[in-house]
Amino acid sequence: MKLWGGRFSKNTDSEVNDFNSSIRFDGRMYAQDIRGSIAHAEMLGKCGVISAEDSALLVKTLGELLDDIENGKVEFMTDAEDIHMNIETLLIQRIGDVGRRLHTGRSRNDQVALDIKMYLLDEEKELSAYLRDLLSCLLDMAEEHIDTIMPGYTHLQKAQPITFAHHLMAYFEMFKRDALRLADWKERTNTMPLGSGALAGTTYPFDRLYVADRLGFNSITLNSLDGVSDRDHIMELASVLSIMMVHLSRFCEELIIWNSNEFQFVEMDDACSTGSSIMPQKKNPDVAELIRGKSGRVFGDLMSILTTMKGLPLAYNKDMQEDKECIFDAVDTLKLCIPVFTKMIRTMKVNKEVMEKGAKGGFTNATDAADYLVKKGMPFRTAHEVVGKMVAYALDNGKSLDEFTMEEFKACSDIIEEDIYHAIDLKTCVNDRKIIGGPAKEAVEYSIGIGKEWFKTL
Ligand code: ARG
Repeated sequence: MKLWGGRFSKNTDSEVNDFNSSIRFDGRMYAQDIRGSIAHAEMLGKCGVISAEDSALLVKTLGELLDDIENGKVEFMTDAEDIHMNIETLLIQRIGDVGRRLHTGRSRNDQVALDIKMYLLDEEKELSAYLRDLLSCLLDMAEEHIDTIMPGYTHLQKAQPITFAHHLMAYFEMFKRDALRLADWKERTNTMPLGSGALAGTTYPFDRLYVADRLGFNSITLNSLDGVSDRDHIMELASVLSIMMVHLSRFCEELIIWNSNEFQFVEMDDACSTGSSIMPQKKNPDVAELIRGKSGRVFGDLMSILTTMKGLPLAYNKDMQEDKECIFDAVDTLKLCIPVFTKMIRTMKVNKEVMEKGAKGGFTNATDAADYLVKKGMPFRTAHEVVGKMVAYALDNGKSLDEFTMEEFKACSDIIEEDIYHAIDLKTCVNDRKIIGGPAKEAVEYSIGIGKEWFKTL
């Protein structure tokens, strides 16, 4: 008979049983479920709701159960519906009536609310570790490429010269925000729901703060209805992870372009590329493509949890069982993507010369030529027009601006002097942009310095 079978006169239909059962995906929360039950059992004893001996036996047996599960000695039963019922059933099999005391003053509703928070808080530690590694990799690469000039783009058209370090640090800022969002999520998620019962708390004199403390939570939930039906932290985590996937995916898109034969700014390491089954010459950036592709499933996970939650009346509804597969998938996907992404960029070859050559073409110094005229007293709009004409002339004559003779410059504007050559030199274009946040060596060094200081606080 089911643990809740008292009022039923028939067994559950086997198809319904399978349909209802979540053990195939919530079984992974066994450690959190057991840790939660141990804290609950300790609290029951401490508050005199059960005897000290019963409490001790529950704690001991739950610990043994955890070991047995970890050593593969236990098989979960679909019939026992979910991880909570599985653990309780196993406990009762081992210690009979004492086991039947564990669920006093507790509901699966507050139990599952606790388990999923604990599970995700545990996963956050791994995610943050991967993210830290990525952030430190970006800092290292930025330091290495502080002088590597490359074209910066808008509309995927060459725009102004920057450095590869500057480009890398843009992603550092994005992933830094991701890390901050994760930390913020953790802070808000850190409230312990046990004691909310099914929806209306309990009449037993429970010490909720004791349980929170035993489980490492900062505080407890303050409304029992909200305690059992809040899934904000799942929606929030799925959003944080989706934004992270956007960042990974954008970076991957750039790497795929840069790795192409047309660009050749970077070359993926052989160990991080794959070949074609028919075209012998091929070496494909599959890792980057797969990460870009997997962003879609994480966004899907976010849509899934938002849609599941949007119409639910308070408090618990079984719909909420659908929260798990999507958030597990989102977390699993990020745990797969971040480390392999880090490995891919850490091992790729950066073709500095090709990048610098790329920065030379496409009139990336045209803005600097206009700024040169402005500094000589010309209004910016007029300077823009003059340089526009210079570009048109250069295109007709197949040259770049720095290849103009002094006569050609003078023909465009008589305020131009010899110092134009220095002003529109790529290195000047980059290194005069000393403004905070700019690509000049000293500005990027400043950002890296701030990044490193912040990294130490992680
Ligand atoms: N397996 C359920 C879930 O994941 C646990 C809570 C079930 N509660 C209930 N009253 N049916 O949401």
